[in-house]
Amino acid sequence: MSHVPAGGQLLIASNRGPVSFARGADGTLSASRGGGGMVSGLSAAADEVPMTWVCAALSDADREAARTSPGGVLDPDQTGGGAVVRMLDIPPDVFASAYNDVANSTLWFVHHMLYDTPNQPSFGPAFSRDWAAFRQYNEMFATALAGAADNGGGGAPARAVIQDYHLCLAPKMLADRRPGTPIAHFSHTPWAPPEYYRLLPTEVGREVLAGMLGADHAGFLCQRWADAFMDCCEALLGAKVDRDARQVSHGGHLTSIGVHPLGVDAAQLRARAAEPDVAAKMTALSEAAAGRKLIVRVDRTELSKNIVRGLEAYRELLHAHPEWRGKVVHLAFAYPSRTDLAEYRDYTAAVQRLAEQIDAEFAAPGWDPLILEVVDDYPRSLAACRLADVLLVNPIRDGMNLVAKEGPILSDRNCAVVLSTEAGAAAELGGHALMVNPFDVTQTMHALDRALTMSDAERASRCSALAAAASALPPARWLAEQLQALDRTTGS
Ligand code: G6P
Repeated sequence: MSHVPAGGQLLIASNRGPVSFARGADGTLSASRGGGGMVSGLSAAADEVPMTWVCAALSDADREAARTSPGGVLDPDQTGGGAVVRMLDIPPDVFASAYNDVANSTLWFVHHMLYDTPNQPSFGPAFSRDWAAFRQYNEMFATALAGAADNGGGGAPARAVIQDYHLCLAPKMLADRRPGTPIAHFSHTPWAPPEYYRLLPTEVGREVLAGMLGADHAGFLCQRWADAFMDCCEALLGAKVDRDARQVSHGGHLTSIGVHPLGVDAAQLRARAAEPDVAAKMTALSEAAAGRKLIVRVDRTELSKNIVRGLEAYRELLHAHPEWRGKVVHLAFAYPSRTDLAEYRDYTAAVQRLAEQIDAEFAAPGWDPLILEVVDDYPRSLAACRLADVLLVNPIRDGMNLVAKEGPILSDRNCAVVLSTEAGAAAELGGHALMVNPFDVTQTMHALDRALTMSDAERASRCSALAAAASALPPARWLAEQLQALDRTTGS
């Protein structure tokens, strides 16, 4: 089935690309393809139109692969064919400032409202230097995209699809370099409301918005984030906002705003979860659970995922409902993320400490109340989702949260989902999940109890409604929808 509307070459830009490298013990580089819905959805489009994917080298091994490839264009044998992948060898200090200090420690914190504001943020000379690096990083992407667009030959113009907060300045930079290139941007995060967004230095906040408005189409995961973006454009830039038409005009340029709630390719995900490596993990997990009910969570060890309060809710459940002691096991899989940042290392340590306390308080011969694993094991995560009776997804704030969508599709046991009202997924799943305020540990505890005691009939009907909503907009269609909107806006 053709998804992508006809047109010129597709240029994708994202910080994390579809492939990464590792150096083996013998010194050779080996490539592995990234998983996840976005990578597979975007890659699938390469079957339909020529595609160039520009991404950053994230590690020393990536940098070596980029340096040894002519023009940074990776060998198709390493990337699995499909898209031409151009990996940018950004100077390590520029990359570290742009990725760690601006993208992940500042923009991510603003959009997820993670600051402990009496102490942070504090913008001084160091931030000015980091911001200059962030500009340089975005410029390198814009230059690479402009070059790739020029190389596309005649015919329909290349269309650029730029991903996420790391690349919020690149749309305007590309438009300046190559006027007339149709440009879409997509935000995979929430967007902060103006009151919080104003934490950014004023000119920085304005530059981010103007950078995004260099795009012809700006996409968001739910209406709430799109509204917040439009509110910020109005409040900080004085842009003309038409909320009904979902359009923002600024500096003589019009940007259409879209809501594209990324979903899951159910058939592909189920096929992956039916492979033998997942079956082996299911056997091991079933042995550990020994017939008990399973409450499952799968996250990056990410501050916004609210893992500590999730564990507190589980501890409260074992206090308030002692009947569950010995009858339930909580599998908390929190794979490492952004470990260069002290906040993330501290958070991971806090998760581990609380897990030890819960274990010390409740473990009994033959019963491990909690299995916390801080290691990346995708087959085991899929296995846990298949076995889950309850899926706990309680982020403080989250762009979408694909685990909330994947869980019901994968579950062999019609899992009940306890879901934060602050996840983008709430817009689609809210009617069928058990909704919680992520800061309300006691409410979360009650929701866990309700999820564990729900009748089989109710579980089945809720789970099938959740799975249907979760697969409503699979990645290939999600991309096609954005390109259609882009074509409408640019009149292509
Ligand atoms: C979020 C962001 C993505 C990012 C991912 C993993 O989902 O929206 O852009 O790739 O987190 O974070 P990382 O820093 O490891 O790329």
